[in-house]
Amino acid sequence: MALTADQATEVLDSGAPRIEATFRNLSDLYLLGEDGYLPVTQFLNKKETEHVCETMHLTTGEPWSIPIIFPISAEQAKQLEGASSVILLDGDKPAGVITIEEIFEINKPLYNKHIFRTEDEAHPGVEWLRDAGDYSIAGKAEVFPDWKLEISGGLAISPREVKDQISEMGWRTVVGFQTRNPIHRAHEFCTKIALETADGLVIHPLLGETKPGDTPAEVRLACYDVLVKNYYSPNHTLLAGFPAWMRYAGPREAVFHAQVRKNYGITHFIVGRDHAGVGNYYGSFDAQHIFSEFQPGELGVDVIFFDFVHFCAKCGGMASKKTCPHGPEHHVHLSGTKVRAMLAEGQLPPAEFTRPEIAMILLEAAKAEQ
Ligand code: ADX
Repeated sequence: MALTADQATEVLDSGAPRIEATFRNLSDLYLLGEDGYLPVTQFLNKKETEHVCETMHLTTGEPWSIPIIFPISAEQAKQLEGASSVILLDGDKPAGVITIEEIFEINKPLYNKHIFRTEDEAHPGVEWLRDAGDYSIAGKAEVFPDWKLEISGGLAISPREVKDQISEMGWRTVVGFQTRNPIHRAHEFCTKIALETADGLVIHPLLGETKPGDTPAEVRLACYDVLVKNYYSPNHTLLAGFPAWMRYAGPREAVFHAQVRKNYGITHFIVGRDHAGVGNYYGSFDAQHIFSEFQPGELGVDVIFFDFVHFCAKCGGMASKKTCPHGPEHHVHLSGTKVRAMLAEGQLPPAEFTRPEIAMILLEAAKAEQ
């Protein structure tokens, strides 16, 4: 919810303490403020956080897979003792205010066990939580009326805007596609196969914080732009931004991604191989298996699963083992590490893996980095 101008003045004049928010905190603040995290409407308290970790549900019984928390340090927790609200700063600009319900110590082992399924600090999510501060502020968050999350690309990022665009298109069934990578041929295949069965497609790249080593948002945005303009039908495709940050929580994040997309007006959500995964922490299809832990219809969004998709030289097109009988010697698939190595050496990844226009953008970006 956004404060009115009068409420904003009142909050600013109240003498409430102020703390700096990180880009991740601000993503969460923005999405809470825009009803992007429904059924979650606030930064969760200890009881809810732990209930979500243990059961993938809120205490009300509604499904939810990743606690929305606002970690702070012990010093900040001390600074906020006795305060009834706290102003969140985006740089030096007030972004929002939390009405403090509780400040609690985060049970990090519990969080890691259930959300990341590992305690390994090499996992970017575990590393984030380790460094994030040991306490969390729980409470209702409201956004200042003149604050907006700064996300590059100028795409629509709020659930309301995307819903409006979908309704203007007149679509009833809408496929959503999460990505944190430049779209390569396997992604394109999955989105187009799914779109064949629906009215529309929302390509919904995550534009919040990602880990070092992932392709920067600006480079990806250039890729999405070229691809959508040249290879997708404008009558059936929207490109919008997803302002959340990557948790790299694999299965738990797949559920989170699907549920949040429902708030964007999406009815069908794609989950392919190793969705939101990192390294070898999750099995290739764990992010699909987790959906069987929910009752049919419980999440309010239908999930479309894809097997491992690759180019097959014998088939002469994209395929998976569901559709292709040929052996791996005929298949073209490159890992992210391999693609980065090729680009670093000035080589273009093959057209069977990524469209030449995309490969060129990636190559230019790799050159600029060197
Ligand atoms: S993710 O972290 O956002 O999941 P990425 O952008 O690589 O990473 O993937 C976007 C979506 O495409 C995910 O649902 C993922 O499972 C799926 N995907 C990516 N590559 C493949 C592939 N080769 N075969 C099947 N699904 C894939």
